[in-house]
Amino acid sequence: MIRRKDELDKMRKAGRVVAEILHEIEVHVKPGVTTAFLDKVARDVLDRRGARSNFLGYRGYPATICTSPNDVIVHGIPGSYILQEGDIISVDCGAIVEGYHGDAARTFPVGEVSAESMRLMEVTREALEAGKSQLHPAKHLNEVGRAVERVGKRAGYGVVKQYVGHAIGTAMHEEPQVPNYWPGKPGIKLASGMVFAVEPMFNIGSSDTVQLDDGWTVVTKDGSMSAHFEDTIAVTEHGPEVFTA
Ligand code: MF3
Ligand code: CO
Repeated sequence: MIRRKDELDKMRKAGRVVAEILHEIEVHVKPGVTTAFLDKVARDVLDRRGARSNFLGYRGYPATICTSPNDVIVHGIPGSYILQEGDIISVDCGAIVEGYHGDAARTFPVGEVSAESMRLMEVTREALEAGKSQLHPAKHLNEVGRAVERVGKRAGYGVVKQYVGHAIGTAMHEEPQVPNYWPGKPGIKLASGMVFAVEPMFNIGSSDTVQLDDGWTVVTKDGSMSAHFEDTIAVTEHGPEVFTA
């Protein structure tokens, strides 16, 4: 849907809080730190900014952020896991400010990581950029997925199809979905004031996913490393505006 200017201003504020959380977490990602500690870092930023968590309690989700190391694609639950040198860790977080949502994710290296892992992170970030650059009025939404998929396939990665991006506003997940692939049709025509969470997930190996018994954690079926980058981005007459940068 198309947001009014005052709504976009609130979403900008929510996005700024999300960006601050990711920044604070990046500062604290190092070997020896638990994922539960990173969750605490996120809670502290939300408290300080008077913002609420959109993850905590979402369909019963038990934490403020998702922490997904190595072969975990998305929805890893923070806990006793201790970050190890050479890990990569995807962190997904969100915030609600004055009723409006922001949502973003980054994959961070823990200390020195392999060249393969560095490339995976670079390419996934590049795919987010390629998707973002499709967000112009009068283009069609599914050009985003087409652009994302092209980047992933060119690099030889598994492009995750099971989990998708989404419109965002007064709820975290609004219609329509934003697939990371070409779904066979162009989708809605974009207009200034629409806001989407674009979130490519790429695996070094196959795109197949498995959900663990905790009901949340999603891993690669083949055990290969996975990366996830997400931003909340508005369509404007001047081009895409990233709220979570
Ligand atoms: N932020 C995730 C997404 O990008 C959703 C997380 S849902 C939660 O859409 F329950 F795990 F918080
Ligand atoms: Co999202």
